[in-house]
Amino acid sequence: MSEDQNPSRDGKGQTRAQHIHRAESGNRNPYQNPDGGVTTTGHVWDDDLADFNNQPPRWWMLGLTASLIWVVVYWLFYPSVPVPSSNTYFKGLGGWSAIKEMEAEKSEVDAVRGKYEAKLKDLTPAAILADNDLTEYVKRSGKVLFGDNCAACHGTNGVGTRDKEGLFAPVLNDDDWLYGGKIDDIYTTISGGRQGMMVAHKDSLSAQQIDDAAKYVKAMSDEGKNKADADSAVTAGKKVFMESDCTACHGADAKGMQAMGSANLTDKIWRFDGSLEGIKQTIAYGVNSGDPKTRVAIMPSFTEAGKLSDADIKKLAVYVYKFGGGQADAPAAPAQAAAASAVTAK
Ligand code: HEC
Ligand code: HEC
Repeated sequence: MSEDQNPSRDGKGQTRAQHIHRAESGNRNPYQNPDGGVTTTGHVWDDDLADFNNQPPRWWMLGLTASLIWVVVYWLFYPSVPVPSSNTYFKGLGGWSAIKEMEAEKSEVDAVRGKYEAKLKDLTPAAILADNDLTEYVKRSGKVLFGDNCAACHGTNGVGTRDKEGLFAPVLNDDDWLYGGKIDDIYTTISGGRQGMMVAHKDSLSAQQIDDAAKYVKAMSDEGKNKADADSAVTAGKKVFMESDCTACHGADAKGMQAMGSANLTDKIWRFDGSLEGIKQTIAYGVNSGDPKTRVAIMPSFTEAGKLSDADIKKLAVYVYKFGGGQADAPAAPAQAAAASAVTAK
């Protein structure tokens, strides 16, 4: 190390030029600094030029030694050297490995989850919903389950997915339910699956009757049921609706029956194409009717598929309920509805 890397050593603020000591001519011992103090390196060139022999500062030497020791300790403690012949490596005295570290962290997480999971197993979906802690847990852990099993059809966060025939799978984050939005309805839907069935009418009704019925259905949605009932332009359709089999499934008020999953025909929410042509097609060919042109609506049974445990299905029921559209069982109505709308607002 040359002295100019250590300018503060002599403390006199000398410049580099001054550091180069001009040896006295005739000085026999070039190691001896004639000014006393630091010796020179003994290397003389150009007849009379020599360097001071300054030592690196103590802190620097200590640092160097400490880092050398650190390297050796680290190297021995952690996996370090590959052993190419046996296709393995020196595993280190500490026995550390990234996988062990990950497993330790995972078992910590599992311990926390385990507490909730154990509790969940023996509770009904309604009881889970009544427990704030568990509901919070399910709201967080259900996301992955929903993403893996449901989002492909129902969309992220249950926003629904569409194809050219309309909604491919219903929106789950609103309060419009085919099969009911109470927690037990949702649980039954997920575990058992659903498959609404509407017969095709292309043989039982004339093209004119289908046309009229479709106009009436569209008027109920566009203008409201009462207005449509009074509308002379659609009275022919109303007659078809009331006198054929429509009321058996959709009800005389046309608001649908949850037991059958028959759609509410008086609202503005369309499961399938809601244009006049689209409605005519639904009436003519039905839903899951077996007709080649039928509309298809199949919610798979997740119990049958064996892909989800009962605890998972319960979690999903609570998760879907908490999208905001969940409907309270009658007695708990005000508190539950407030909780549900608080979630929607988030
Ligand atoms: C293959 C597509 C598909 C998958 C996967 C799927 N669903 Fe469905 N789901 C549907 C269809 C289609 C319907 C409507 C059935 C009908 O109209 O009769 C439906 C209906 C529902 C309903 C009833 C909606 C209502 O208005 O009453 C709920 C709740 C539901 N699904 C939840 C889920 C959950 C939770 C999952 C994941 C575990 C899931 N679905 C996975 C296609 C799917
Ligand atoms: C056997 C029961 C049944 C009968 C009879 C029936 N429907 Fe339906 N209908 C359903 C079901 C179930 C659905 C909902 C399918 C789904 O979304 O899964 C439906 C859906 C519809 C839809 C589509 C609603 C939407 O949101 O896209 C229309 C329109 C409709 N029905 C009209 C009629 C008319 C008009 C008649 C009489 C001519 C009729 N239905 C008779 C069961 C029935």
